[in-house]
Amino acid sequence: MMRFSYLLCTVTLLCYVYGCASAIFTIKNNCPYTIWPATLTSRRGSILTGFELESQATATLNAPVGWSGRIWARSACSYSEGRFKCLAGDCGSGQVACNGAGGAPPVSLIEFTLNGDGNKDYYDISLVDGFNFPLSVAPRGGCPTAVCPVNINNRGCPPELAEGDGRGGIIGCKSACIAFNQTQYCCTEQFGTPKTCKPSFYSEFFKRHCPQAYSYAYDDKSSLFTCPSGGNYLVTFCP
Ligand SMILES: *[C@@H]1O[C@H](CO)[C@@H](O)[C@H](O)[C@H]1NC(C)=O
Repeated sequence: MMRFSYLLCTVTLLCYVYGCASAIFTIKNNCPYTIWPATLTSRRGSILTGFELESQATATLNAPVGWSGRIWARSACSYSEGRFKCLAGDCGSGQVACNGAGGAPPVSLIEFTLNGDGNKDYYDISLVDGFNFPLSVAPRGGCPTAVCPVNINNRGCPPELAEGDGRGGIIGCKSACIAFNQTQYCCTEQFGTPKTCKPSFYSEFFKRHCPQAYSYAYDDKSSLFTCPSGGNYLVTFCP
């Protein structure tokens, strides 16, 4: 027993140093057009930061032990004067890889913390920065799926939140925090606690369409999911 825990400890330590794969993310594009998924790491390790994914294609990413970060998708991307740029979810890197830059809101996010407290993975869908794509995260085997199945862009996104595509269409729906930058929507200053930051007219609009997603910063009760660590995940855009 002693020897086994010593071995386990050594392996875990080596994994932290050298980055063993902790989870495999399979990313699927179920949208009827090409998207460019992207990732931003907040803790631990290297993972592909951006790539092209044709309609109906899948890609796999290896996330190291203890990885924490977000995944989102960009659309309507092209090169202009040698710089790669997307109408939705752009990260400003000028390349397909985001290289540590986050997506410009409005953007729907999938957030992961692998190997967190209690040796569990924590995952959620966040619309705290707004919405650009319907999406889902499905653990392989048993644990609950989180899904935001509705294309909020054409389900009555309030005009004051809508992000236009320049041709009369809507490519994203901003959160009230992003649109108005006010403390009561952003849960900052005197609204910086779960007790004082309440749902708003706007956050309730998002919650109605995607009850399993974070609609504002302290929306944890119905939006944070856990699964024993060691499993793999299917992330689908346009599920
Ligand atoms: C939001 O407002 C705060 C002050 O209330 C300001 O410091 C900050 O720069 C603003 N952010 C944006 C993105 O405009």
